[in-house]
Amino acid sequence: MTERTLSIIKPDAVAKNVIGQIVARFEGAGLKVVAARLTQLSQADAEAFYAVHKARPFFKDLVSFMISGPVFVQVLEGEGAILKNRDLMGATDPKKAEKGTIRADFADSIDANAVHGSDAAETAANEIAFFFPGMQIHSR
Ligand code: PPS
Repeated sequence: MTERTLSIIKPDAVAKNVIGQIVARFEGAGLKVVAARLTQLSQADAEAFYAVHKARPFFKDLVSFMISGPVFVQVLEGEGAILKNRDLMGATDPKKAEKGTIRADFADSIDANAVHGSDAAETAANEIAFFFPGMQIHSR
């Protein structure tokens, strides 16, 4: 089934100048970038985006990290895009991420873990709508 998912290249990976290398992994796996922009999240943006994790002990650190520099947000489209993106990303903690995954290759720690990807269809729809109105998405 063709799906869409939201991907964020986080401030650590943007600072390392590896946006292109990460996007190449998505494209190499058959995912298409159908919307994208570099943006700076405000504290309110990050708190709203991660509202589901508000009660978690790491919430404050996660929000601070996500506003520490620009992020590259994009919508990826393709067959099984949500799971495919999660597989390409690897485990949340880069120390546990499988060799060859984005986090194993580009992330430094569980706090600065290079990428975010939607975890399910409903989340993907909400996260895509958070960043991109429909007219900014271009299926190819
Ligand atoms: S869960 O329970 O599966 O939703 O949790 P998980 O996917 O592991 O983590 C949710 C997001 O929180 C980030 N995270 C952390 N940030 C800072 N410090 C610590 N210790 C930490 N643990 C998890 C994790 O990267 C997830 O962010 P996203 O942007 O979704 O990857």
